[in-house]
Amino acid sequence: MQKLSLHIDFTEYDSIDELDPADKALIEKASDALLQAYAPYSNFKVGAAILLDNGEIILGNNQENAAYPTGLCAERVALFFAGANYPATKIKTIAVSARSGKFMIKDVLTPCGGCRQAIAEYEVKQQSPIRIIMTSEKGKVLVAESIDALLPLKFYSHNFGTPSGK
Ligand code: THU
Repeated sequence: MQKLSLHIDFTEYDSIDELDPADKALIEKASDALLQAYAPYSNFKVGAAILLDNGEIILGNNQENAAYPTGLCAERVALFFAGANYPATKIKTIAVSARSGKFMIKDVLTPCGGCRQAIAEYEVKQQSPIRIIMTSEKGKVLVAESIDALLPLKFYSHNFGTPSGK
């Protein structure tokens, strides 16, 4: 028996202004996207902006449903659109932004477990890391260089073959 520990790296910024212009622009796109979220049940609007390897930006926002579990998070709306329409193009970065109609979001919003699993799938598929930019209403920004920082010991397809079937 031995005890193991993990080391995880993040970069924290006090303000969006500390980021480079491309990252700042992606966050602004995510913040714009949340304005079009369909979140009548939670009043918690989330926007996601994905930067593809070809320079294109894909937007998503949360889509809720009267049958609650049927709804989908902003990150997965954007990821699945990218997967459906740009299957051969790598995802470089995803930025996420949120606003609540009920309270101030003080902490950085980190993607839910299901969205982490979806990001992990695309990292395995494209065989390169996806940067994740997470924001808070107060201005703090957290950046992870790979889903491995948010989902260590992830489940992936190593038990039954790669997504490409190799
Ligand atoms: N939500 C997201 O879109 N992304 C997250 O990372 C966390 C939660 C959505 C789901 C639901 O529509 C609302 O936020 C409240 O949970």
